[in-house]
Amino acid sequence: MRHRLLQRRPSRKKRQQLLRQRIGCGVDVIELARFRRAMTRGGRAFMRRIFTAQEEAYARRRRRTTILHLAGRFAAKEAVIKAMSQVDPTRVVAMNQVEVRNDRWGRPHIVLHDPSSKRIKVHVSLSHVDSVAVASAIAIL
Ligand SMILES: CC(C)(COP(=O)(O)OP(=O)(O)OC[C@H]1O[C@@H](n2cnc3c(N)ncnc32)[C@H](O)[C@@H]1OP(=O)(O)O)[C@@H](O)C(=O)NCCC(=O)NCCS
Repeated sequence: MRHRLLQRRPSRKKRQQLLRQRIGCGVDVIELARFRRAMTRGGRAFMRRIFTAQEEAYARRRRRTTILHLAGRFAAKEAVIKAMSQVDPTRVVAMNQVEVRNDRWGRPHIVLHDPSSKRIKVHVSLSHVDSVAVASAIAIL
């Protein structure tokens, strides 16, 4: 006998929605040593070009691990841009238009400061250790 879950068939409308949906994925890894050098070379201009004031504040509040949170956010932005380019290759977003926020449990989510991207839903996950930060993203249009 087939399992009950296998017999449940999505409605026609749902099937059409699923067929129309485009899904993209992206990943990025950042070497802390290189990232630190880029930050030192780029100074304030680099920070402004890449991070929002809230992202910087989040990282600076964590004094001993500031660089890890910034590198994680950098990786997340790159991963999101890769994922978004798979669902819409014509879209160009700036790094500081992709903002990583954390909810009260610490879970990251993305806020896109680009009105034309509002139909794209993005999911992100990030992780960091002493020498590397990594992030992956999924974009759904
Ligand atoms: C939350 C947890 C998974 C983070 O893992 P970790 O190995 O300590 O840290 P990592 O370097 O791999 O990841 C850190 C990133 O995970 C993300 N993160 C934090 N909490 C998270 C959560 N609950 N779910 C998903 N992602 C989370 C953040 O983006 C964080 O980086 P950031 O602070 O720079 O934004 C870990 O602390 C844990 O297992 N905690 C126990 C479970 C728990 O407390 N859950 C919270 C309620 S659901």
